[in-house]
Amino acid sequence: MRIVDTFARVREERRGVVALVPTMGYLHEGHTACVAAARRRADMVVMSVFVNPLQFDRPDDLARYPRDLDRDVAIAADAGADVFFAPSADEVYSTESLTRVQVTVVSAGMEGAHRPGHFDGVATVVAKLFAGTQPHLACFGRKDAQQLALVRRMAADLSFPVEIVDVPTVREEDGLALSSRNVFLADRAAALGLSRGLFAAAAAAAEGERSATALETVVAIEVAERGGDLAYVTLADTATAQPIPSLDRPAFLAVAARVGEVRLIDNVFLYPDGSADLGTRLDHQSVLYEGRER
Ligand code: PAF
Repeated sequence: MRIVDTFARVREERRGVVALVPTMGYLHEGHTACVAAARRRADMVVMSVFVNPLQFDRPDDLARYPRDLDRDVAIAADAGADVFFAPSADEVYSTESLTRVQVTVVSAGMEGAHRPGHFDGVATVVAKLFAGTQPHLACFGRKDAQQLALVRRMAADLSFPVEIVDVPTVREEDGLALSSRNVFLADRAAALGLSRGLFAAAAAAAEGERSATALETVVAIEVAERGGDLAYVTLADTATAQPIPSLDRPAFLAVAARVGEVRLIDNVFLYPDGSADLGTRLDHQSVLYEGRER
């Protein structure tokens, strides 16, 4: 695996079909699942690691975001990435940038409503990564379902010739969706309220429940009973991320809640025929906890 820190070096390395796996580092099995999906489709897999300051609405959240580049290099190499692209902030935002990419509608609700400017930051950096690395395809996790819808729409609207590949959420053995932020969790039992609530809602959908309010209420009750502080729970259209009143098209049921100091998001994809994508589960402890207490 080559380690590079400029867009120009990534372009020099390009050969055959190129896949990009954009990340903010502190890698886990959710990221390596994206590398595996990329590997199956491409000749060359570029993994980028860049903690994008533009998408953080709170400076303390940016300062606290876990970082360990040596650890990331080892995990990316093990997962089969060919190029590890870790640019500096100066490389990504080399001139005082006056351009921001804004994807309206898709960014309006849920994370967009709770984290002002977040999705402009995501859309801008992903557009820059696409323009600078010129991949044929790029892999994003379903865990960030609204981000996935936003990136799809941005790539289509700006005519980037990039296929967006989505990868199912990877969960820990107990069902908690993998996130780099899980290393900060003190109250795991409360954190499990999100996934348990979503699984219960998916079971209700499988039994015929179609009302968004009913499905959302199942999740809200589970989160509250386990001690989480709910920010929102919304049934949304997978393409537009707009709230929908009933499960009459492909949708995701998304939840955000604060558990102690940690803000968590999770979702399940639900379909009108009652089927669901709940993600996949590890059968071993995540690499997130190597050398740490869980
Ligand atoms: O999902 C993430 O890790 C980030 O939002 C992304 C897509 C790498 C952009 O910074």
